[in-house]
Amino acid sequence: NERIRIREILAGAPAGREVTVKGWVRTSRVGKGVAFLAVNDGSCLASLQVVAEPGLANYDEVRAIGTGAAVAVRGLVAESPAAGQAVELHAAEVTVIGSADEQYPLQKKRHTFEYLRTIAHLRPRSNTFGAVFRIRSSLAQAVHRFFAERGFLYVHTPIITTSDCEGAGELFRVTTLDPSAPPMADGAVDFSQDFFAAQAGLTVSGQLEGELFAQAFSDIYTFGPTFRAENSNTPRHAAEFWMIEPEMAFADLRDDAALAEDFFRYLCRHVLANCAEDMAFFNEHVDRGLLARVRQVAGSSFAMMEYGEAIEHLKRAAVPFEYPVEWGLDLQTEHERYLTEQVVGGPVFVVNYPREIKAFYMRLNDDGRTVAAMDLLVPKVGEIIGGSQREERCDLLEIRMRESGIAPESLWWYLDSRRWGSTPHAGFGLGFERLIMYLTGMENIRDVIPFPRTPRHAEF
Ligand code: 4AD
Ligand code: MG
Repeated sequence: NERIRIREILAGAPAGREVTVKGWVRTSRVGKGVAFLAVNDGSCLASLQVVAEPGLANYDEVRAIGTGAAVAVRGLVAESPAAGQAVELHAAEVTVIGSADEQYPLQKKRHTFEYLRTIAHLRPRSNTFGAVFRIRSSLAQAVHRFFAERGFLYVHTPIITTSDCEGAGELFRVTTLDPSAPPMADGAVDFSQDFFAAQAGLTVSGQLEGELFAQAFSDIYTFGPTFRAENSNTPRHAAEFWMIEPEMAFADLRDDAALAEDFFRYLCRHVLANCAEDMAFFNEHVDRGLLARVRQVAGSSFAMMEYGEAIEHLKRAAVPFEYPVEWGLDLQTEHERYLTEQVVGGPVFVVNYPREIKAFYMRLNDDGRTVAAMDLLVPKVGEIIGGSQREERCDLLEIRMRESGIAPESLWWYLDSRRWGSTPHAGFGLGFERLIMYLTGMENIRDVIPFPRTPRHAEF
């Protein structure tokens, strides 16, 4: 008979039903005249208890099955006398598909996240990482559904680009092997030749191309990988991360904040409704306040403060900060966390930052010293969304480019979008990993992306 997933059985398969499951053994335990296997197939957090008795043709083999082995089990669903599970599976046939010996690194005991990072190829088979990556997948689908429900066009922006959207000089350079070059002495590949006429790099953001599409389709979004050669070795920065970037034509900063708030709350409601088992696990084992926090945020509207107000709050703070606080300086993570955790007690939009510390494309406010920027800060994570109303006035945009050391000619196509049919427009970027950190309580970005790329680490 056909394989069914363990989630389906635990969700209420009737006793007496014959099923086949396939999965990996989490633990095995041999009792008097009986062997128990906890089998997990990734479809849910819980494992299915398989009960095997000496009548099985290969009982001796079954008794010896180790943690980590892949098995197929055919048997009958039965009500379980054991606490904590409604049903178990009485095996009629157990097949070892792939064995595992005692050197399998995920033997049953608590492992630190640091250790599990060193076995990123195996950690998806642990409870915590199973839960992280189920939530990650579910959220990705929710992102698309949110925008589809609102008529946003999904656009694939290029990964290889010559423009540094954020102007922070954090592009990874893309080069290629020169087929005519002699092999290097140590046999290493020579990546010194440029394939593209201009120096190309990996995108730091799909925004500039997204804006071009918003000027045709009105409402669009991107959702893809972005790359930053940030030297920061922090729990919140990765060299490769995923970003969701909506962009709306005929929209201002208010519209932008309204969309961000709707979106964020939608994603909170999504995990509460669709990832209950995994969320309960994080609430119990990783962050005791998680469910209460996410529930509260799902049903509340977010605070908003001016950058200037934020600076005043920080100056009055009783706690000492590592980094200085002064009008004109950028906010650091410690400041962001103070504002959201101590001042507001929840998510807060900080808007209208000094022009000097923000990217060239942000719209200059009437005061001449601030731009229509918007960051959403949340407890524990800090900045989770960065966005703005864009400068739609061609002359001012050119001035801002020059100010930021960008030659207007290098972005002639971007300026064209202001030359013909320019509209007020706005958008933002949500860091997907930071969202997952916020919604799981996981405290290190390396633990919410399948294979983290950080300074000195890109092996697997
Ligand atoms: O604030 P950022 O740099 O904004 C942009 O890239 C704009 N182009 C977005 C837009 O308006 N369309 O980045 C946006 C978000 C941040 O708030 C943060 O959540 C995340 O992307 N982010 C990172 N996440 C992980 N690792 C990094 N190195 C990140 N840098 C930014
Ligand atoms: Mg930012």
